Amino acid sequence: MVSPSSRKSMLKERVMDLVTQTTILPLLFGCLGIFSLFRVLQRIRSRAYLRNAVVVVTGATSGLGRECARVFHAAGAKLVLCGRNVEALEELTRELAGSSTSQGQKHKPYTVTFDLADPGAVAAGAAEILQCFGYVDILINNAGVSYRGAISDTVVDVDRRVMEINYFGPVALTKALLPSMVKRKRGHIVAISSIQGKISIPFRSAYSASKHATQAFFDCLRAEMKQDNIEVTVISPGYIYTNLSVNAVTADGSRYGALDKNTAQGRSPAEVAQDVLAAVGKKKKDVILTDLLPFMAVYLRTLAPGVFFRIMASRARKEQKSKNS
Ligand SMILES: NC(=O)c1ccc[n+]([C@@H]2O[C@H](COP(=O)([O-])OP(=O)(O)OC[C@H]3O[C@@H](n4cnc5c(N)ncnc54)[C@H](OP(=O)(O)O)[C@@H]3O)[C@@H](O)[C@H]2O)c1
Repeated sequence: MVSPSSRKSMLKERVMDLVTQTTILPLLFGCLGIFSLFRVLQRIRSRAYLRNAVVVVTGATSGLGRECARVFHAAGAKLVLCGRNVEALEELTRELAGSSTSQGQKHKPYTVTFDLADPGAVAAGAAEILQCFGYVDILINNAGVSYRGAISDTVVDVDRRVMEINYFGPVALTKALLPSMVKRKRGHIVAISSIQGKISIPFRSAYSASKHATQAFFDCLRAEMKQDNIEVTVISPGYIYTNLSVNAVTADGSRYGALDKNTAQGRSPAEVAQDVLAAVGKKKKDVILTDLLPFMAVYLRTLAPGVFFRIMASRARKEQKSKNS
C-alpha cells in the first residue's frame, strides 16, 4: 500500500523527469526567447517610426493633448501643436523647446491656432500646418468637448456644436491633410474617441453620438486608405483626470464648470498619453483603454443588448432621481 505522501513525491518526480528528460524545457526557453526578441524588435521599430516624424496634435493646450505633445516630443517627433488658446500653446512650446528628446535632439514645435467648429478656420489651419514642415506623418485628432444634459431639455444647436467640434472638425482637418499623405504614400491618422463611442450612457447623448460617428468614419477611412499605405488608429479611453467635464457644454449651451467624480477618479493623462504613444508606434488599429467593467459593457451591448439597455435605464432613473432630490 503506497501512502499519500509517497504517491505525491512519486508524481512530483515523474513531472520533473518529464520536464528535464523531454524537450519541454528547451521548447519553453525557445518560445520565451522568440517572444522577447519579438518585443525588442517591435520596440526598435516603434522608436524608429516616431523619431523625427512630423506629428500634429489638436487640443494640445490641455489634458490628454498636452501630455501627448510631451511624450511624442520625448520620443523625438517634430510637433505641430494646435488649439485655440494661444498663450497655453506658447507656454507648452517654450517648455518643449527647452527640453531634449530621448535621443538628445532639440525640436522646437510649431503652433497653429484655429477653432474646429469653424470650417473656414480649419481649412486655413490645415494649410498652415502643411507649411510648417512641408508634410505631416501623423495627425492626432485629440481636441474635443463633452456634454452633460437630458435629451428633452437640450436645444438642437448644442447637439450641432458638439458634432462640429468632435466630428465635423476632425473630419475636415483629416480630409484637408489626407491628399498630401496619399501623394507620399505615407501617413497615419489617429482619432481620440472614447469608450462612449462604443456604448452610450444616459445624459451624454450629443457627446456619445459624436464619438460613435467618429468611430464609424475612421473605421471606413482605415479600409479605404489601406491601398495608399495610410494607417488609421482609433483610441477609446475611459475616464481621464482632465478638464473635459469642466469645459463640457450643457443643455442650454452654457459651460458645465464642474469636475465630475468619475473624471476626478480617472486615469492620469500622462499615463494615457504613454498608451497612445505605444498604440501609434505599434500601428494598432482599434484600442480600448478602460478598466474591465466598461470593457465588458462593450461586449454586453453586442451579446446581450436587452440586459445592457435595462442597466442603462436604471442608471438614467437613478441619476434623474439624485438630480431632483
Ligand atoms: N477626460 C476624459 O475622461 C476623456 C475620456 C475619453 C475620451 N476623452 C477624449 O480625449 C480628448 C481630449 O480631451 P481632454 O480630456 O484632454 O479634455 P480637455 O482638457 O478639456 O482638452 C480639450 C482640448 O480640446 C481643445 N478644444 C476644445 N474645443 C475646441 C475647438 N472648438 N477648437 C479647437 N480645439 C478645441 C481644447 O483646446 P482650446 O481650449 O485651446 O481650444 C483642449 O486643448 C477629447 O477628444 C475627449 O473626448 C477624454
